[in-house]
Amino acid sequence: MKTILPKILNLSAVAFAVLTLVACSKSTPTDSLLTSSSQTADNLVLEVHKTPTCGCCGDWVKHLDENGFDTKVIDHRSLNAIKKKLNIHPELQSCHTGVSPDGFFFEGHIPSKYIAQFLANPPKGAIGLAVPGMPAGSPGMEMGGRFSPYDILLVRADGSTEPFAAVSSSEEQY
Ligand code: CU
Ligand code: CU
Repeated sequence: MKTILPKILNLSAVAFAVLTLVACSKSTPTDSLLTSSSQTADNLVLEVHKTPTCGCCGDWVKHLDENGFDTKVIDHRSLNAIKKKLNIHPELQSCHTGVSPDGFFFEGHIPSKYIAQFLANPPKGAIGLAVPGMPAGSPGMEMGGRFSPYDILLVRADGSTEPFAAVSSSEEQY
């Protein structure tokens, strides 16, 4: 699947479009259209879209809450519409989707510190981060001592990705 957004759109236009789309889905993420640079470590607000019975989603939210985030959970029977609106391609998808007030998405079991790092200085051209699937040992996916190394991907509007961080041990997540 290729981009559904014209490349001429700049990041703020994309962020605005995302905010508009999210606002249409009965939730009210924000009334602000602040530029991404205004996001600071003191402003770690995340709206989390998940399905009601997802245990690992709840554990990820707990991880965020314990690490300085202010989360607002919204349950849906299906997340397909949300992921489509945010332009999160199927190969990048996981069980839940976080959305910042500026419209950046955080897909899957991303450790809080990498989200904070992203929000403190959003990389040019990025529309979000993704950890596809559900790696064992990632926050919310604790399975005894098991740990599968994984990459956190930076996602651009055209669906292309580049590594944002490589997480090779459980300790690096905290
Ligand atoms: Cu999960
Ligand atoms: Cu989840």
